[in-house]
Amino acid sequence: MEEINRDSFIRNVSFPPPEGFKQRANIKSFEEYQSLYRESIQSPETFWSKIADELHWFSPWTSVLDESDPPFYKWFLNAKTNIAYNCLDRHLEDHENKTAIMFEGELGDTCSWTYMQVFQETCKFANTLLSLGLRKGDRVAIYMPLVPEAVFAMLACARIGAVHNVIFGGFAAESIRSRILDSTAKMVITSDGGYRRGKVLHLKDIVDEAVHGCDCVEKVLVVRRSQTELLPCQMTEGRDFWYHEVSSNKSSSHEAERMDSEDLLFMLYTSGTTGKPKGIVHSTAGYMIGTYLTTKYIFDIHDEDVYWCTADIGWITGHSYVVYGPMLNRATIFIYEGAPNYPNEGRFWELIEKHKVSVFYTAPTAIRTFMRWGDDWLTRRDLSSLRLLGSVGEPINPEAWMWYHNVVGQQKCPIVDTWWQTETGAIMISPLPGVTTCKPGTATLPFFGVDPVILTEEGEETDYGWLAIRKPWPSMLRGIYGNPERFKQGYFGHWEGKYYYTSDGAMKDSEGYYYIIGRLDDIVNVSGHRISTAELEGVLIEDPVVVEAAVIGVHHEIKGQGLVGFLIIKEGSDGQSLVQRLNELVGNKIGRFSLLDKIVFVPELPKTRSGKIMRRLLRDIAEKRELGNITTLADPNVIEAIAKQFKDS
Ligand code: WT7
Repeated sequence: MEEINRDSFIRNVSFPPPEGFKQRANIKSFEEYQSLYRESIQSPETFWSKIADELHWFSPWTSVLDESDPPFYKWFLNAKTNIAYNCLDRHLEDHENKTAIMFEGELGDTCSWTYMQVFQETCKFANTLLSLGLRKGDRVAIYMPLVPEAVFAMLACARIGAVHNVIFGGFAAESIRSRILDSTAKMVITSDGGYRRGKVLHLKDIVDEAVHGCDCVEKVLVVRRSQTELLPCQMTEGRDFWYHEVSSNKSSSHEAERMDSEDLLFMLYTSGTTGKPKGIVHSTAGYMIGTYLTTKYIFDIHDEDVYWCTADIGWITGHSYVVYGPMLNRATIFIYEGAPNYPNEGRFWELIEKHKVSVFYTAPTAIRTFMRWGDDWLTRRDLSSLRLLGSVGEPINPEAWMWYHNVVGQQKCPIVDTWWQTETGAIMISPLPGVTTCKPGTATLPFFGVDPVILTEEGEETDYGWLAIRKPWPSMLRGIYGNPERFKQGYFGHWEGKYYYTSDGAMKDSEGYYYIIGRLDDIVNVSGHRISTAELEGVLIEDPVVVEAAVIGVHHEIKGQGLVGFLIIKEGSDGQSLVQRLNELVGNKIGRFSLLDKIVFVPELPKTRSGKIMRRLLRDIAEKRELGNITTLADPNVIEAIAKQFKDS
C-alpha cells in the first residue's frame, strides 16, 4: 500500500454523546458495550442465541454456528422462521395501529400505513404472486421507484420464500437484462413509472426492452404508481399483468412460509473487479438477526421515533435500513420518492420538519451537496425533531462531519458513521450513539460479533493496511449466485482463507478507532455507488473506434470520487462527437449514474513491461501529484504525452 500522511486523518476534536441522549439510549454505558462486545467475540453462540430469542421462530435451531466447511458458514441450523412474519405479524398483537410507513411522493402526495395495513397489503401481494405461479425459491427481479408498494413487494417475496433481486431504478435496460439472466428470474415486478426531478420515468418501457428475448421471464407484474393516473405502457398479452387487476380479489391474509434459516432471502448485484457484476446472496436468519440488532442499537430505535434513511431500495442500505432492520424493530419509517432538489434545494429539510423525522441516515455525498447549497435552506426550518444522524457509503471527510454536526444536528445529535458493505449485510463498524465518543472521520469501533483486524500484505497485524474480518458473523453473504469459486477466492482467497477480505484500506489510532481509507481494488466509489472500472472499460471498448480504455477514480469535491477515462482511439476519429457517443453508450448500457466526468484521448497508456496498465500513474497525473515510482514502466516517454493531453482536454 502507498504510504499516506496519517496525521491528516486524525482530528484532535472529540464529541462525547450528549447527556440527554445517553440517558434514554438503548445502550447507556461504555462498560455495557464493552462487556457485551467481549461476550459476542468470546462466546458468540451464547450471545447470538440470546439475541435470536427476541425474534419469532416457528421452530428452534439445533446449533448456532456450523464452521465445518469454511467459508461456507451456516447460522441457526435447522430453525424455521420468516423475516416478513418478524417484520409484521409479530407486532400486530399490541401495536397493530402503530404507523409503519409514511410516504411522500415527489409531487407532494402523502399517505401512511399502520403495521396492520402493511401486513394486509403484503399478504395481498403475496397471494397475488402465488396466483401468478410464483413459488418458494423462484427468483424475482424488482425494478420500481421508491414507493410503499416496492416495500410490500419485497416483504411479499420474503413471505412466500421467493428470492428478490431488487434492481436500482437508475440502471439501464442492458444492466437489468444481465441481472435477470444471471439470476434466471421468473418474474419481474415493476411499475408504470415514477417521478424524479419533475420528470416521469417510464420504468415499464425500460423493462420491456430488458426482458425482450429473456426466456426465463414468464410474467411481468406492473404496479400503478399513482391512484389517479395510469402512465401509458404497452402490455404484452399473457406476460404482463396489472397488479391492481390481479390483486383485486385476493385475500389480505396469508400464512407466512416456514423458511429454513439458510434459505436464500435475496440477492443483490454489486460491482466486482471484473467486468461482470456479482449476485451477492443473503440468507434468512443470520441477515434478520444482524439487521435487527444493528438497527436497535446503532439507530437507537424508540417507539416514538420517525426514522428516515434516504437510500433507494435498489442498494443494500435500502434493504437493511429502509425495510428489514427498521421493520424488525417496529419503527415508523419515512420514505420519499424523489430528488433532494425538487422543487428546490430545501426539500429534505421541509420533509424533516413536516414529518418530524428524528433519526436521519444519509450519505456523505449528499451532505457535501447540502453544504454547497447553503445553510439558508436549513436555518429557515424547524429541525428540532432530529435526535440522531447517520452517515454511510464512503468515508465522511471531517469538514462535512462538522457541518452535519453543527448545522443539521445543532450540536445536539450524535453522528453514527457506519462502515459496512453489500457483502456484510449489516453495519460492522460504527459508534453506538449513547456511549461512543465520536471523532470526525472515523467509524470508531466494531459492532457486536465483529472482529476486525488490519493486516499487511503478508498477513501480519498492523495499524495501517488491509481491513479484514477474523470471524464469521450472522449477516455475512452466503456466496455469489452460481459462483462458489469466485466467492471463495474473492473474499477468502487471501491470507490462507483465515480472514474475510474487505477490499478496503484502514488505519487504527491509539484508542482502537478505525479510519476507513477506501477501496484498494479497482472499484470506484462515486457518490456512494460502487462502480467497477473494468465494467466501464468493457463498455467503452464496445465502440468501434476505441482501441483501448483505462478508467480511474479521482478525488471529487462532492461525489467523493469522479471518473476519468483515458482512451486510445483509431486515427482520424473525431474526438468531440465521440465523447457524446461514449456518454450515451455508458448511459444506455449501465446507467447515467456511471457517466465519466472527463474523457482524455491519449496516444498510449502507461504500462509495465508485462503489459499491465499502471493506473496509479494515471491517478497521479489526474490529481496533479508528483509521479510515484516509474521504474517498472515499459516506456517512460508516454507519461509526458498523457499529462499534456490531460491538461489540454
Ligand atoms: C464500500 C461498500 C454498505 C452501505 C453502502 C455501500 C465504502 C461504506 C463507509 C463508511 C468509509 C465506507 C467502503 C465499502 N463505505 N461505508 N462509513 N466509511 N467507507 O455499500 O456499495 O457495498 O460499498 O463502501 O469502501 O467497501 P457497497
